[in-house]
Amino acid sequence: MTDMTSPDAVRRQYAAEGNLQVRSSVWHPDADGRDPSALALDAVVGAAPTRMLEVGCGTGAFAARVREVLPATDLVAIDSSERFVELTRARGVTAHVADAQALPFEDSSFHLVAALWMLYHVPDLHRGLAEVRRVLRPGGTFLAVTNGDQHVAELRRAVGRPPMVTHFSSENGEAALGRHFSDVRREDLRPRAVFPDHAAALAYLASSEEPSQRDLPWFDGPREYAGHVTVFVCR
Ligand SMILES: C[S@@+](CC[C@H](N)C(=O)[O-])C[C@H]1O[C@@H](n2cnc3c(N)ncnc32)[C@H](O)[C@@H]1O
Repeated sequence: MTDMTSPDAVRRQYAAEGNLQVRSSVWHPDADGRDPSALALDAVVGAAPTRMLEVGCGTGAFAARVREVLPATDLVAIDSSERFVELTRARGVTAHVADAQALPFEDSSFHLVAALWMLYHVPDLHRGLAEVRRVLRPGGTFLAVTNGDQHVAELRRAVGRPPMVTHFSSENGEAALGRHFSDVRREDLRPRAVFPDHAAALAYLASSEEPSQRDLPWFDGPREYAGHVTVFVCR
């Protein structure tokens, strides 16, 4: 299993926005035009929460979209990175530095909690999920997005990296969520990572600390790799 939970590695990876921006920028909707963030946003709009928390908000891009479409929602975001909290606040969203494993909120504070592409970083996953359950009101919605083991696997294989197997994935996420929520629904998507050229694919690979076993074979022109993403909606 790939260890994505080392607090030192997580701190280094998200001390600044460059790595995350490189990775986020390559993604395009799947063949049916479906996009994980758009699906997640639809789920938020459908739930129309009065109070909402986003855990692991990154640079605040999703929170800013929520604010735009649901301006009356009382929205708060947390992240363990000081820089990301600063960037989220700069978008006009209330944000705090905090750990998903110890949420600084009262019980039953929110109608909806969202955690997009972050639970695979949380060392004690079940403590994090219990915290989400605790701060959610009864009947509230939890929205979690994560990647599958085969996410960009072809690109990873090309440089000798093993599949990205984590403790919260498309494959094992449903069982983990089922320990905390009685109703877990999922939607699986295949977004496309589109690289205009070889250098762009190299930059994507270099944005993580993972070692490669060999150089990426040269290719001319654009290239596409399949992503594997799941959007979970839980109550
Ligand atoms: C892959 S990024 C995803 C960011 C954002 N949700 C997005 O979709 O762009 C993971 C985020 O989780 C944050 N994070 C990692 N571990 C955390 C923890 N234990 N508590 C709170 N935030 C954490 C990181 O700082 C980073 O912003």
